[in-house]
Amino acid sequence: MQPQRRQQYLDAIGIDLWVPRAAAPAAAPAAVPPAAPAAPAAADTAARWEALRTEVLSCTRCPLHLTRTQGVLGVGPRRCDWLVIGEAPGAEEDRRGEPFVGAAGQLLDAMLRAIGLDRASNVYIANVLKSRPPGNRDPKPEEVSACLPYLTRQIELLQPKIMLAVGRIAAQNLLATDAPLGRLRGQVHRFGATPLVVTYHPAYLLRTPADKRKAWEDLKFARTVYQQLQAAATDGHRP
Ligand code: URA
Repeated sequence: MQPQRRQQYLDAIGIDLWVPRAAAPAAAPAAVPPAAPAAPAAADTAARWEALRTEVLSCTRCPLHLTRTQGVLGVGPRRCDWLVIGEAPGAEEDRRGEPFVGAAGQLLDAMLRAIGLDRASNVYIANVLKSRPPGNRDPKPEEVSACLPYLTRQIELLQPKIMLAVGRIAAQNLLATDAPLGRLRGQVHRFGATPLVVTYHPAYLLRTPADKRKAWEDLKFARTVYQQLQAAATDGHRP
């Protein structure tokens, strides 16, 4: 990406200075071996997506179906390398049936654009919960347990190379930990076989703009991990 274009995106996020490499919080990521999940038969995939969408839209696995408008599956290409995972739909997402379409969603889009990602072409965005918790309260453990199989099926279909968990709730639930977000940043975790990197939730960043710089470090870290995965995959395919 052209430096000038990247600076425009950083301006949009609200970061006005480059962080010197030496000040980055995390050491350069260690090379991560590429995950090699089995690809589902192509003919099958569209039908499996459709079945998943129908189930999520009409899901009654937990009481959230009584208060939500609709289940929100996700948005983006149905096969792509990047998967971003948030917490749960908010009011606007519940109304429109798409994740991250409110103010936080606009910031998320700007953050993703800064590393060359766009929900229209190369990143899929979903949530841990597919139904909105009333009043945007935190998800309950039993709601997460009921909903996680949907995310697992999405991952099987998408075959992402890397996942980015945005916010404490997504990170803690995906990693089955109660460690604070600050301790989870700057590392390559795994969800199943898929490498997972953690950063702040854009709604938090709207309230705490001083931490946008740390989020930018996380995005660069995730991009480096992805590039290393790609390089390792290319090397693995060389005769
Ligand atoms: N916050 C989330 O975590 N997900 C959304 O889809 C919207 C806001």
